[in-house]
Amino acid sequence: MNKKHTEMLDFDKKHVWHPYTSMSKPLPSYLVESAEGVYIKLASGEKLVDGMSSWWSVLHGYNHPQLNKALIEQSQKMAHVMFGGLTHEPAINLCKKLIAITPKPLQKVFLSDSGSVSVEVAIKMSLQYWHSLGKSEKHKLLTVKNGYHGDTFAAMAVCDPVNGMHKIFESVLMKNIFAPAPQSNFFQTWDDSELITLEKIFAEHHHEVAAFIIEPIVQGTGGMRFYHPKYLQACREYCDKYNILFIADEIATGLGRTGKMFACNWADISPDIMCLGKTLTGGYMTLAATLCTDDVADTISNGAAGCFMHGPTFMANPLACAVANASLKLLETGEWQQQISFIEHFLQEHLLPLNSHYRVNNVRVLGGIGVVETVDAVDMEYIQKRFVELGVWIRPFGKLIYIMPPFISNTEELSLLITAISTVLDEAPCFV
Ligand SMILES: Cc1ncc(COP(=O)(O)O)c(C=O)c1O
Repeated sequence: MNKKHTEMLDFDKKHVWHPYTSMSKPLPSYLVESAEGVYIKLASGEKLVDGMSSWWSVLHGYNHPQLNKALIEQSQKMAHVMFGGLTHEPAINLCKKLIAITPKPLQKVFLSDSGSVSVEVAIKMSLQYWHSLGKSEKHKLLTVKNGYHGDTFAAMAVCDPVNGMHKIFESVLMKNIFAPAPQSNFFQTWDDSELITLEKIFAEHHHEVAAFIIEPIVQGTGGMRFYHPKYLQACREYCDKYNILFIADEIATGLGRTGKMFACNWADISPDIMCLGKTLTGGYMTLAATLCTDDVADTISNGAAGCFMHGPTFMANPLACAVANASLKLLETGEWQQQISFIEHFLQEHLLPLNSHYRVNNVRVLGGIGVVETVDAVDMEYIQKRFVELGVWIRPFGKLIYIMPPFISNTEELSLLITAISTVLDEAPCFV
């Protein structure tokens, strides 16, 4: 690394806040120079195979010619215009595409800036829906433990009450209702015994609940847990039975990652409100969408307020919409299905055998997601350094070493990720 790089990193360490990081004792950050395909190139010269898809978002790889083209062409027309009173082709095309690929009842689209904001929007929609019907007493959210829905306030209030940030912000967070986390494993025979407790909670609280929110099939940041589609079907059934709106947070799972276009498709259900983010622009820039049914939109619009009370400055940013359209066009070819199936089979063959390692509790694979749950928690700083030395970018947390590589990853790249994981499992300093 040259002097300029060292100075940049020094400034970064002293002044630039990184996600979930202390400013007094920051973990090291690695300076990235460029990224191409599945590779992240560090300023120090290493080329790392990306196992994280930049937190679930990169589908078709970095520096993609078609996504670049869409971005450049749109930038020459307009980078941004306000969305209040104005509209434009990139947004219209995007909403058309989203309505076409999501479950049929979802007919209205609200575009916003990030996953967390799309969850705020979904929650606000559900509260305003019941307010419009004169039932303001339905003002709480029902969810399950081990969930993660973002870091803004309404989103935080539906994250897991123990692993999330409830303790710090307890006094200001909405008081919501938490059912036990889904227990029936995706891969095991369905056991409906947990539904007794679940239905009891719906029955007890429905009069005060506006919406039920859940990550379909994959509980991500809250533990990388894969649960049974029949559980999701039961949730839909109870929402109908007890008059509660169903919010599906597909921010991590949407657009192919689990092997279906949407994780809701595993259970053949349609939510009343769906959140999309992360993958929407193929990992290029921040954009999210909250889709809802005609009933939700009409009820809100015909209510006392006469409109939905939300409107971000960068709503429907044309650059982001244009890139999202280019990314969805690549998905429309259907190639993603073979890509995910290839990753899934490869991980099943080569990652699942790590199950027998003495340092491993459980290995699981679903679609393009591979999870190694370890016996001991990782030493973040040490293991991160080792992964970089081994030529990969994998960022574990707690007892979870997980990968969700870009869809375009090939045999050689996936092998490198798996070899790196298997290597660190043999190294004691990687664990605390
Ligand atoms: C399921 C889920 N919902 C919401 C979010 C929040 O999205 P963002 O980080 O874009 O605000 C995330 C992010 O990891 C997520 O995984």
